[in-house]
Amino acid sequence: MSAVPAPSAAVMNSLSPFDVAPWSQNHLARTEQALSAWVGHGAPAGLGDAMRYAVLDGGKRLRPLLVLAAYEAVCSGTPAAAASDEAALRAACAVELIHAYSLVHDDMPCMDNDVLRRGKPTVHVQFGEAQALLAGDALQAFAFELLTPDDSALPATMQATLCRLLARAAGSAGMAGGQAIDLASVGVALTEDQLRQMHRLKTGALLQGSVLMGAVCGHAAPAAYQALSDYGAAMGLAFQVVDDILDVVADSATLGKTAGKDAAADKPTYVSLLGLARAQAHAQELLHEAHAALAASGLPDTRALAALADMVVRRSY
Ligand code: IPE
Ligand code: IPE
Ligand code: MG
Ligand code: MG
Ligand code: MG
Repeated sequence: MSAVPAPSAAVMNSLSPFDVAPWSQNHLARTEQALSAWVGHGAPAGLGDAMRYAVLDGGKRLRPLLVLAAYEAVCSGTPAAAASDEAALRAACAVELIHAYSLVHDDMPCMDNDVLRRGKPTVHVQFGEAQALLAGDALQAFAFELLTPDDSALPATMQATLCRLLARAAGSAGMAGGQAIDLASVGVALTEDQLRQMHRLKTGALLQGSVLMGAVCGHAAPAAYQALSDYGAAMGLAFQVVDDILDVVADSATLGKTAGKDAAADKPTYVSLLGLARAQAHAQELLHEAHAALAASGLPDTRALAALADMVVRRSY
């Protein structure tokens, strides 16, 4: 079952229809190859196995795709620069490492206590709680190591900017702060403003940060950067609204994680606050906001970003 009815906005702009499937396949293959080459090698005492289990062979890879799509949108029409291409691939992998670490910790008994993730037993079920905690720690640290290679042509200022964006998206003003609000909100009837703020932090910040990191790799001009930031904010919030919807309407086999957990744990969600139909309508409104931001960006080709926003809202898992 789809999370929301298919939107009327086709993935078109003044250029031509865009087939996102081959674009995604190409970029997913590059991302998988890079993650597999980079993650977990040489880590002692089984830690590398837990890190690779957490990151490889699973997940939609939405955040890396957003980095690469934003980078390409900013660069379209300009000659490719090898150093910028390398920065974008490193940023794509770094943000996925932070995301994977957040999932490992989110699933632990002290947080959501989930046993299924990406269709497999969660990391703490497979490797034990202490190893899961450490795998999350190590993935987070490695994300920043990936952004600061000592043997590359990446300008130091770009390395620093990427680190700052990722740290901000992951930390107390982003994912970790949102997770703290989430845990403090069990059984609490949040207002819509409070719920929006929790979702913007716990999930939206890293998705918006992915877009901004791609924009930085492509040296976006200020107006385009602001428009992409607006796109990231709307799309990032839509993502968690749809996650709340899928928890209610989808089954565990489709999701690859346990369905129905939010109601069981008495978590405030867009569905518990607004009901299913209004939550679906709100996801559509946010999708329109995301498209409007792309239209305002002045960038010549935002078709991949438009397609990814559509995927965020139309997805079934
Ligand atoms: C799940 O994110 C956790 C949330 C932030 C809601 P995704 O749905 O992107 O998970 P994967 O990466 O595809 O497994
Ligand atoms: C988690 O939100 C967001 C993270 C920062 C990992 P959820 O707890 O709703 O994510 P799922 O549903 O377990 O994937
Ligand atoms: Mg959670
Ligand atoms: Mg969870
Ligand atoms: Mg959820």
